[in-house]
Amino acid sequence: MRTYSTYKELLKAIKGTNTIGLVPTMGSLHDGHLSLIKRAANENNKVIVSIYVNPTQFNDREDLENYPRDLKRDIRKLNKIENLLIYAPDNLDVYDKSEKSKIYDFDGIENIMEGKLRPGHFNGVATIVEKLFTFINPDNAYFGEKDFQQLLLIKILTKQLGLNINIIGCETIRENDGLAMSSRNNLMNNKERKTAGEIVKLLLHAKKMYLDFNINQIKKEIENKAMSIENFKLEYFEIIDFSNFSILKGNRMKSRAFIACKIGKVRLIDNLSL
Ligand code: PAF
Repeated sequence: MRTYSTYKELLKAIKGTNTIGLVPTMGSLHDGHLSLIKRAANENNKVIVSIYVNPTQFNDREDLENYPRDLKRDIRKLNKIENLLIYAPDNLDVYDKSEKSKIYDFDGIENIMEGKLRPGHFNGVATIVEKLFTFINPDNAYFGEKDFQQLLLIKILTKQLGLNINIIGCETIRENDGLAMSSRNNLMNNKERKTAGEIVKLLLHAKKMYLDFNINQIKKEIENKAMSIENFKLEYFEIIDFSNFSILKGNRMKSRAFIACKIGKVRLIDNLSL
């Protein structure tokens, strides 16, 4: 296993490889990432894990500054996986000086939920993913379903760019109490961490209600329940039927429930198929 800080060196190392799997990450690796990486290792001759905290996708400077970073620890975690290459660039290997995000049009999906609350976020994600895809040109790229809206936009981006890359969505890996694994989970104190276990309970409650109640009734119930949880600030709870978006017509995707909240200073998201 080797770590490359420039894509030019990385490209030399993968020249002639049959199938390449890419797992883009921002580091601070946890078991959720490891499950993606192990799957990629099983399905490809070589796997590239990119570790890069992409500044253009942060709309909040404090969030960018506080984002956990520990490259040495990440490298140790990946030590035992064979045929793995790490791409850990600095800003200048990825962006020109003062380069900004490109502006994308994903038929409005970029403007709801995460896109609405974090203006510019998806332009930043799409900009870095487009760069990684065009530098590396992998056969398969792996993303977690915890960031389901992101996964969807990356599928659309790949189609719009005409790239021949399979985008593989991987099921969310959860802690014992059901909390979706996230690099942000470690930023909570014990009390906040306990509260975070309520997120999945709200989603499961919505799933239970889904057959017998309409969307407005479910939203009201979840919003009321969320309000009664101490130190829990609901940012949104939405039920989305993605087949309503013309860009996704024919995908026949089922409805999903989405939630974003703040517990103390930590912002968490999750979703569940209904
Ligand atoms: O999901 C993430 O960790 C990031 O948004 C990604 C896809 C690595 C792009 O920076």
